[in-house]
Amino acid sequence: MAHFNISKTARQLQRSVMRDLMKYAVDPDIVSMAGGLPASECLPVEVLQDCADRVLSRDRSEALQYGPPFQPLKEWIANYMQKQGVDCTAKQIHITSGAQQGLAILSRLFCDPGESAVIEAVTFTGVQQVTVGRRLLVETVPTDLQTGVDVEALERAFKRDPRPKMAILIPNFHNPLGVSISMEKRRAILALAEKYAVPIVEDDPYSPLRFSGRAVPSMKALDRSGMVFYIGSFSKMLAPAARLGWIVAPGELGDRITVLRESLDLESSQLWQRIVFEFLDQEHLEPHLDRLNSVNRRRKEICIRELQKHLAPLGVHWTDPQGGLFIWLTLPEGIDSMRMFRRVIAKKMAYIPGGAFAVKGGYQNTIRLNFSNLADDQIPVAIQRLAEGIAEERQEKGQ
Ligand SMILES: Cc1ncc(COP(=O)(O)O)c(C=O)c1O
Repeated sequence: MAHFNISKTARQLQRSVMRDLMKYAVDPDIVSMAGGLPASECLPVEVLQDCADRVLSRDRSEALQYGPPFQPLKEWIANYMQKQGVDCTAKQIHITSGAQQGLAILSRLFCDPGESAVIEAVTFTGVQQVTVGRRLLVETVPTDLQTGVDVEALERAFKRDPRPKMAILIPNFHNPLGVSISMEKRRAILALAEKYAVPIVEDDPYSPLRFSGRAVPSMKALDRSGMVFYIGSFSKMLAPAARLGWIVAPGELGDRITVLRESLDLESSQLWQRIVFEFLDQEHLEPHLDRLNSVNRRRKEICIRELQKHLAPLGVHWTDPQGGLFIWLTLPEGIDSMRMFRRVIAKKMAYIPGGAFAVKGGYQNTIRLNFSNLADDQIPVAIQRLAEGIAEERQEKGQ
């Protein structure tokens, strides 16, 4: 067999631990809280079908061609951002293939391999892929489970010489932690970004998924110094398969972002951009989000009720998010959720061990639960099975 000398970058990219673990989760009887999926039954199949029909009948071959970013969609997004207090124009909107591509583009915009970036010690695996995976030097900062990222640690990281080239934060309904950054901390982080001239990449696929509490302005909406680069996504608010997201960036960097994006995959699908625009233009988003978020709220409440019943007596703590898709569990010290996974899978329940999100290791006694994509009556079954697994682990350890 031929021997290939593959690049350091390809070698550096970590195979997702979860992909390996999920091999064991193929049994259809498994109740899974492992994914990061919006409720499948809430995906607006009929409405999107209708939008697709209309787009194809009206736009014909244009909808299937190469083409520039679909201007009406850019304008819709600019208007949406303005309504949330972000001062921007359509020129500053860059349509991307999902938030993940936004992360990939901004990582390339700011950092060459070997340069340093700040990320949270526990973060979405896609953030790790565009930093550690690109051979950047990462400085990690811890995140408080009530108020979000540790601002003092952030300042220590920003002060380093050489200065980090960017910081990536997930301010709303963090994946995997479920926490949102408090208003006070948002302002403090913006002051640090300005003081130390470190751009903040605000990765925000989840803010439209608020189901309780009061909306908090995005970091971009509070930003007066222009240090925040915002990333949004239609994946969680509408449909992951659309593969559409956006970056809000200063006009003067527009050409660079356009070229970086072209170097990755040329452009987003004309068809999907038009279908999504049709959906938005026909004002389907609000009723869709109302429905999605009420299902998410109900499922989160069921989940918390069951955690209280079965896991509190076992010494487990959790975050109680006001939106998004995830709850983060902290188990008693000494219980290794990666090791416990096989035991729990044998009971036909799946979760993600928190260690899979830990950039520099640790966090073995943590778990991420996705509450949105399991039927209401299956959530108690899943939590019951998880509780049995934890009780057995504790017993084995004589706890
Ligand atoms: C925090 C965060 N950022 C980015 C993404 C990528 O989303 P998209 O499907 O828009 O590429 C995800 C997906 O789970 C996420 O949780």
